[in-house]
Amino acid sequence: MSDTNRRGFLKQASLGVVGTAALSSASYAQVVGANERIQVAILGPGGMGMNHVRTLVGQRDVDLTHVCDVDANRLAEAVKNGTRDNRAPQGVTDMRRIVENRDVAVVFIATPDHWHAPASILALDAGKHVYVEKPCAHNIREGRLLIDAARRNRKICQVGTQSRSSEHAQSAMQAIREGAIGEVLAVRVWNSQLRGNIGRQKPSDPPAGLDYDAWVGPAPFVPFQRNRLHGVWRWWYNFGTGDMGNDGVHDLDIGRWGLGVETHPTTVTALGGKYFFDDDQEFPDTQTVIFEWSPSANGNGKTPRKKQLIFEQRIWTPYKMEGYENGDAFYGINGMLIFGKEAGWRLYGPRNKEIRTVTGSPNVLAHHRNFFECIRSGRRPNADIEIGHLSATLCHLGNIATRVRRVLTFDPKTEEVHNDKEAGPMARREYRQHWATPRGV
Ligand SMILES: NC(=O)c1ccc[n+]([C@@H]2O[C@H](COP(=O)([O-])OP(=O)(O)OC[C@H]3O[C@@H](n4cnc5c(N)ncnc54)[C@H](O)[C@@H]3O)[C@@H](O)[C@H]2O)c1
Repeated sequence: MSDTNRRGFLKQASLGVVGTAALSSASYAQVVGANERIQVAILGPGGMGMNHVRTLVGQRDVDLTHVCDVDANRLAEAVKNGTRDNRAPQGVTDMRRIVENRDVAVVFIATPDHWHAPASILALDAGKHVYVEKPCAHNIREGRLLIDAARRNRKICQVGTQSRSSEHAQSAMQAIREGAIGEVLAVRVWNSQLRGNIGRQKPSDPPAGLDYDAWVGPAPFVPFQRNRLHGVWRWWYNFGTGDMGNDGVHDLDIGRWGLGVETHPTTVTALGGKYFFDDDQEFPDTQTVIFEWSPSANGNGKTPRKKQLIFEQRIWTPYKMEGYENGDAFYGINGMLIFGKEAGWRLYGPRNKEIRTVTGSPNVLAHHRNFFECIRSGRRPNADIEIGHLSATLCHLGNIATRVRRVLTFDPKTEEVHNDKEAGPMARREYRQHWATPRGV
């Protein structure tokens, strides 16, 4: 679709000709009645997307009516897995067929990161509620535009950081809020993984059944290369956000939650690079990033103290820090709480006395349930888009600081880096002319 066609498409959507935007968004909760089944479509039923497909078919108050993938093999697999009571979801390859479908009320988006915000904005503008995988956007600017789209359409937008709806994370946060370790001034966040080498490859023909042009979407076009496709795209600047935006974002989100900071940091600095992998990956395999919040930025200005978050990432190691592959160590003035994303948490008091141990793990179903309950009630979801954007911005800023290797000053209001000419433009990206390129990027 040309730019003109995109405008026409969106105009029609906003008039309710092809979408549901004509419905008053304020009354959407009444449109989806308490006993009515919600019609759901999913874009990108690949790795995580297939997890959503399986979780969705288990919920009796929702109908998975459409699955959409630009890879025919994956689409066929999704249709198979999405079949319930002998009723198969319709498989489509062009997301516009879903956006323009008046009966679809909800869109799940589990595509690669570069499609998250463009697809979400299209769906929200057509009157759909959106569950978008983390990180909610490929860059800082897109994240802001995504919040704007959710708010102007008054739709629910939940981000796929499922720990927000998981009991073990909620109980840890409750313990911190109740003062179990006193005021938390610092948190150390880690992501340790044993990733693979993606090799060095040359452009080649895309595999049969893959619409590669649609896969690239509004990102700048680069020729197909095998080590840029499923799952591996996350190591390329054009499509992903590195492991900081992949696994790291979950831990950063939990870290920010426990630290009690509800706005952006004001300063960030980092060191890192490719210390281990000798391959095509563009993102660092080793990273240490430090964020600082000014007193006015933290905890709604309730405390005059600065706060700090230290993020450590090594994606070439089988060793787990504090016994956890991914985690957060919260340092309070009276104690410490060690949180393992996949395992639970341990609370320590003065002189490292272990006081309490809790086990648990992330719960995707609970996150879905929270999303659907919010669609019916109109309440903000546990990982509302604003929360998702604040946490995704830590990944974007961390990656930018690692690239330029300097101390950056970030303005939480304008969401710009003002003190560094090289880093400043990295808050945004280049797009090709495409019907899905969001306005205002
Ligand atoms: N919440 C979690 O715990 C969790 C875990 C893993 C991945 N994720 C997120 O899920 C997303 C997908 O990751 P993955 O590892 O499953 O990637 P993947 O590459 O396995 O799957 C992505 C799918 O999207 C499809 N796709 C690409 N462009 C499309 C388009 N225009 N329309 C329709 N389909 C399109 C691809 O063909 C592919 O099947 C990422 O954003 C990732 O961060 C979340």
